[in-house]
Amino acid sequence: MSQAGSASPLFAVVLAAGKGTRMKSNRAKVLHTLCGVPMVNYVIGAIRPLVPERLLVVVGHQADQVRAVLPEDAEPVLQPEQRGTGDAVRVALGAIPEEEGVLLVVNGDGPLISDRTLGELLERHRSVGVGATVLVAELPDPSGLGRVTEDAGVVRITEERDATEAERQNRLCNLGLYAFELPELRRAIEEISSDTGQGELYLTDVLEIIGRRSRAVTYRLKDLEEANLVNDRSQLARAEEILRRRILDAHMKEGVTVRDPVSTHIEASVEIGRDTVILPGTFLRGKTRIGSDCVIGPSTDLVDTVVEDGAVVEHSVGRGARVGPGATVGPYAYLRPGTVLEEGSKVGAFCEVKNTRVGARSKVPHLSYVGDAEIGEDANLGAGTITANYDGTKKHRTVIEDGAFTGVNTNLIAPVTIGEGAYLGAGSVVNKDIPPGKLAVGMPARVIRDAPGARSEDRPRAKTEG
Ligand code: UD1
Ligand code: CA
Repeated sequence: MSQAGSASPLFAVVLAAGKGTRMKSNRAKVLHTLCGVPMVNYVIGAIRPLVPERLLVVVGHQADQVRAVLPEDAEPVLQPEQRGTGDAVRVALGAIPEEEGVLLVVNGDGPLISDRTLGELLERHRSVGVGATVLVAELPDPSGLGRVTEDAGVVRITEERDATEAERQNRLCNLGLYAFELPELRRAIEEISSDTGQGELYLTDVLEIIGRRSRAVTYRLKDLEEANLVNDRSQLARAEEILRRRILDAHMKEGVTVRDPVSTHIEASVEIGRDTVILPGTFLRGKTRIGSDCVIGPSTDLVDTVVEDGAVVEHSVGRGARVGPGATVGPYAYLRPGTVLEEGSKVGAFCEVKNTRVGARSKVPHLSYVGDAEIGEDANLGAGTITANYDGTKKHRTVIEDGAFTGVNTNLIAPVTIGEGAYLGAGSVVNKDIPPGKLAVGMPARVIRDAPGARSEDRPRAKTEG
């Protein structure tokens, strides 16, 4: 048998084809996210530092959706029918032509397993020179897991559903992570049958076969936190809580103040600069990036939003927005995709902004809807300034040039341009371009004719949705 010496190539396979019945979900278990990342990607991330020759992922249930979340260095292999973990490994072996080498097999539902543990298991496997090595732990609550016994080079795993009462008392559990010598595994996998179990092929049955032929050993997990496997929603929540705290700790270690870790949710992909303060009830998700010296929160929810140095965002929601250096947002603002707030600008209370650039030092301080607009520098929009950007069919743009000023309750009926330094009186309804430097007032709406396509009893109206 091939053994010892790091010369033998390493291959890895993640088993991710199962449905995950106990999740009671329409979605494959490995697609469920923890801190914004699908479960299967944590497992792949733990394997990657070992630099296997190839990293295979067995997909099956919702194969297309699982393929879609895999990183480029993971190769999907289709298991057409989910006939058990033994069948999944058989499918993976079909995609590995090499005769010699070590195959690391990792269940896709252990998101907390670390690269360190994988590395140690592998090292142990190679140095002992055995046919198979399996990761085990003695757990306070072993329910649902395969129970392990080891005796003179033979490891036997009994699934809980097949175990006797006495066997269930054994708390030494199989964590679903193995290293196999390829030739040994190939031979043994052809010998397991579904006769005993639930019509499934159990990968675990190969251990006894390999043990009898050569030798199999267990490797004990050191940090029991990693044994948080996910089979149901409670376990999902428990594993996510551990990951959430790890993410927060990593940010705090790098100089971010988190006032209330209990109520702060930061996804794995988020970046935050030092001396930024995150206040309670804040969610930072997706590709959100926060600069340094910012104050975010309380009660703020940002997705795919960039906040630059020194900005303040309180009690607000951001989706695909960009908040420039020193800009202030909120309380109670809603920044929608395409919003760009330039340096020192402000979007204040009860404002919604969409697909709009707000120039440097410009202010949208209160109660406005601004959509599809271009606002220059040093402009000021009075309370209740609204862009009527939508005529019921199409969206139109509003341009507000540098230094322009709109009075309270101004309606800007797009497409329209307010020239540089122009000034609009309170309550203006603007449907024609205002030249630079002019004062315009009035224009109350009046019925002139039927709205396009409307029956005569319908009122024409400007809409502000978007
Ligand atoms: C398995 C082990 C059990 C161990 C536990 C640890 C077997 C027979 N039992 O049980 O001893 O304690 O993991 O987590 O292996 N999968 C496929 N194709 C299939 C079936 C499953 O790819 O046909 C994948 C699943 O997506 C999952 C992994 O294999 O990621 C494990 O399957 P699961 O059904 O969760 O196995 P357990 O019953 O937990
Ligand atoms: Ca499982």
